[in-house]
Amino acid sequence: MSKKSSPEELRSFRWFGPDTMRGFSHRSRMKQFGFRQEDFTGKPVIAIINTWSEINPCHAHLRERAEFVKRGVWQAGGFPVEIPAFSITETYMKPSPMLYRNLLAMDTEESLRSLPVDGAVLMGGCDKTTPGLLMGAISMDLPAIYLPAGPMLRGNWNGQPLGSGTDLWKFWTERCAGNITREEWLEIENGIARSPGFCMTMGTASTMSALAEALGMTLPGASSIPAPDANHPRMSMDCGRRIVEMVWEDLKPSDVLGMAAFENAIAVDMAIGGSTNALIHLVALAKRRGLPLELSRFDEISKRVPVLADIRPSGRFLMEDFFYAGGLRALMNEMRDLLHLDAVTVNGRTVGENIASARIHNPEVIRRRESPIAAEGGTVVLYGSLAPCGAVIKTSAASEKLMRHTGPAVVFRDYNDMDARIHRDDLDVTPDSVLVLQNAGPLGGPGMPEWGMLPIPKKLLPLGVRDMVRISDARMSGTSYGTCVLHVSPESYIGGPLALVENGDMISLDAHDHRLDLLISGEEMARRRAAWKKPENRYARGYMALYAERVTQAHEGCDFDFLDGTTPVPEPEIH
Ligand code: FES
Repeated sequence: MSKKSSPEELRSFRWFGPDTMRGFSHRSRMKQFGFRQEDFTGKPVIAIINTWSEINPCHAHLRERAEFVKRGVWQAGGFPVEIPAFSITETYMKPSPMLYRNLLAMDTEESLRSLPVDGAVLMGGCDKTTPGLLMGAISMDLPAIYLPAGPMLRGNWNGQPLGSGTDLWKFWTERCAGNITREEWLEIENGIARSPGFCMTMGTASTMSALAEALGMTLPGASSIPAPDANHPRMSMDCGRRIVEMVWEDLKPSDVLGMAAFENAIAVDMAIGGSTNALIHLVALAKRRGLPLELSRFDEISKRVPVLADIRPSGRFLMEDFFYAGGLRALMNEMRDLLHLDAVTVNGRTVGENIASARIHNPEVIRRRESPIAAEGGTVVLYGSLAPCGAVIKTSAASEKLMRHTGPAVVFRDYNDMDARIHRDDLDVTPDSVLVLQNAGPLGGPGMPEWGMLPIPKKLLPLGVRDMVRISDARMSGTSYGTCVLHVSPESYIGGPLALVENGDMISLDAHDHRLDLLISGEEMARRRAAWKKPENRYARGYMALYAERVTQAHEGCDFDFLDGTTPVPEPEIH
């Protein structure tokens, strides 16, 4: 980190400073907006990378919040420019928003590289936008602050709180069981999402925003503020003020994101009972920094970190309650002995300094160390003959009685097959069966859709069955729950062992021993492997062709292989 001491040292000065024909062109077009030269020349030019969109309700307020960021930038002597970025919306984007995380990362990196900017405020929140924006910012490595959109308010139905996703799955199962009327269903539909902001359970959005803070990439406390709370625009303005200082200090993501920051994020992920998606995203983020982050590291940290956040789907409360209970700073202070307190953050202070004054106001929501939700972290990595490169299970949202389970496989060869057969009366399934979904991974899905919480077959619902062991190479929404083994790697579409499972094969899950095994002989496995046929390539052109050719497997972060690492990309020439 070396401070900049003169306007001429600013990156943007290369565009706006020179007395050349190109300098003339750059200045005259900025004057076209109505600005004077002294407004933008020799001042930190701040890109406000905004993923606002009218098809993304989680970001409905980000257009207005960008104005608060701009106020902060102006106040601190910078020059703000709002730049739209690809808005990945979890609800609407098919076949899977995960397909497009890397596209947002490229959009972010290349916008920052190609334009005359000195620093960035990254505005996101809906699941994939947080890792996408951060991956791009890490690779470009200009000073950057992440501004989380914040969770929406609690849902409400007849006075009882509703949680995004989590209560949708729960009440849908009850509707399928005939316990919810259509009128009640519509009431729930009207009450489950009632303000701007992202899903307010501990889904992927809440998880990744919290991890952005744990990484040191947000202002302290930013990730817990509900979107409609007046603290949110105040925080937005603070981001604007601070990023200008960061440009002069030359405080870049590479100064913040050392291995200590990633280990803090993993520890916090375990303590909040975070989404399983976090493993994929953190691995991808670390690879962008050139840091090796093996899945086994998550397991090591998980063993010493208790689950402290009592938030659905692992617990009872919602993100609004978490904020009132003290928010992430309070949770981190409660586990301060498990964190690297000397890791530096974007406000220029250390994690330890940022959390020192935080207090827990409601120990029901943020548990004290002596009464955790679980003694160990909420996510377990599994290895075994069915997952040689790993799989994950969110134990904090699974059934204890299924943590050790052996049962016969009921195999669905893809999502359509599952959709067509799972609720049929003639499906050969019992409560002890293990439901297996193939071809739902990075290439098979494609994009690892969140199909991992396979529905419970309707014929088992009257028996009171509400959970079963389910295994796939898909992901699962962070708002989902159940004994779902996910991210099986290598995936079935490229011939991983999951592709070789047949109906009736016995499968053994031992989450306590971190094992996932297909109980067939080595000879039988080899015979099936020899008979397996590689599927035809489905994508001949466009982004999907690039994706199919270059995406990596789940345990490697699902980034494009040419985007990880820190090989320098030259600054653009200005001719
Ligand atoms: Fe955007 Fe859940 S749909 S965070």
